[in-house]
Amino acid sequence: THVVAEPCFNCKYTDCVVVCPVECFYEGESMLYIHPDECIDCEACVPECPVAAIFHEDNLPEQWAPYKELNADMASQCPVLTEKKEPLGGEPGK
Ligand code: F3S
Repeated sequence: THVVAEPCFNCKYTDCVVVCPVECFYEGESMLYIHPDECIDCEACVPECPVAAIFHEDNLPEQWAPYKELNADMASQCPVLTEKKEPLGGEPGK
């Protein structure tokens, strides 16, 4: 599966959701999450994110390791997002 990591926090550019063929992005208040049971590892979203927030779980930088579980937990509690919306405009990860 792929994982949305800290750079998404306070950004939410949402370019990722538009290219996802399986609609596996879920919207939290401050960032998006990928549902691990739905992601097919197509990688389409990875180059779309302007702040490089999306990683394959095997390439997830060590300092963001907890985001793997966070994505799994939060994706199942948040509403699905399939259309681009206005970004939050914050500094990535702050
Ligand atoms: Fe977040 Fe990047 Fe998508 S900032 S909402 S993972 S395009």
